[in-house]
Amino acid sequence: MRNIGILTSGGDSPGMNAAIRAVVRTGVFLGMDVFGIRRGYQGMIEGDIFKMKTTDVSNIIQRGGTILKTARSKEFMTDEGMAKAYDQLQIHGIEGLILIGGDGTFRGANKFFEKYTIPAVGLPGTIDKDLSGTDFTIGFDTAVNTAVEAIDKIRDTAEAHDRLFVVEVMGRDAGYIALNSGIACGAEDILIPEMVTDINDVLCRIDMDERRKKTVHILVVAEGDDYGGSKKVAETIMARFPKLDVRNCVLGHIQRGGAPSYADRVLASRLGHAAVTALNNGTTQVMAGIINGEVVYTPFSNVIKGTTPVSPDMLEMIRVLSV
Ligand code: F6P
Repeated sequence: MRNIGILTSGGDSPGMNAAIRAVVRTGVFLGMDVFGIRRGYQGMIEGDIFKMKTTDVSNIIQRGGTILKTARSKEFMTDEGMAKAYDQLQIHGIEGLILIGGDGTFRGANKFFEKYTIPAVGLPGTIDKDLSGTDFTIGFDTAVNTAVEAIDKIRDTAEAHDRLFVVEVMGRDAGYIALNSGIACGAEDILIPEMVTDINDVLCRIDMDERRKKTVHILVVAEGDDYGGSKKVAETIMARFPKLDVRNCVLGHIQRGGAPSYADRVLASRLGHAAVTALNNGTTQVMAGIINGEVVYTPFSNVIKGTTPVSPDMLEMIRVLSV
């Protein structure tokens, strides 16, 4: 294969740049021309495509965001949008694609490849860790570290004021950021979509803590939790315990930014290299992931909305360690 294209799509995640670097350098090493496609599928539709040099990816391994920029393209989900995108690939002579993104990216890819034949390999780039076929996604480790740093700071002020904080973290429909940051910060409670939230249980635990004169409470809530988000949780607690000083804090997009952790840089480099090698060897329409420390390839259709199950021991541990 001579010409390949690379794009980042959906929400950015720390480590995407490290992945782009690995793809470009592996491609050039194998004698390929690598074309950067800006703004994901939208840039593909608009022909925002340029030939990349190895120096284009110098000094980016440590940077958050994505030098290729990203977008969530509604137009790509239409027949016309896909036809325009395919035409642009033809115009630029692109014979293979490297797609870096999350659930939405692979959904789009699946639909596109039902109509058009072009070899492609994906990389899991999302802070949410909501894909199967990999133990970790690029950006997840950094996002959890960012959340941990923020929640530690919140605990300082919570302690100073004897307050209860309900902290909301990202993850879309998945609770991995909440679960891991909550455990790492010693949260008194963690609410995640993978577990049905019984609000009376939550209130009961707060009541018990109050009786024991435990003055600081940190509840970490995943944005996809079924009770309806951190604001509603905070309001319910205030209604039940009017004397408690309760605050609600949504961490938001800070979780998507910042320099990638060493783990995300290594993961991104490994998967970027593996993806181009696979494409070159004819292993296509798969996502490259890491399972038990080894690179594995999973068909696009199998990675969508298939999360790794939450370990029951972690759920059990939350209750035990927060006593
Ligand atoms: O998928 C990554 C993610 O950050 C989710 O955790 C979150 O639900 C969503 O993207 C936010 O999307 P946007 O940046 O479009 O508001």
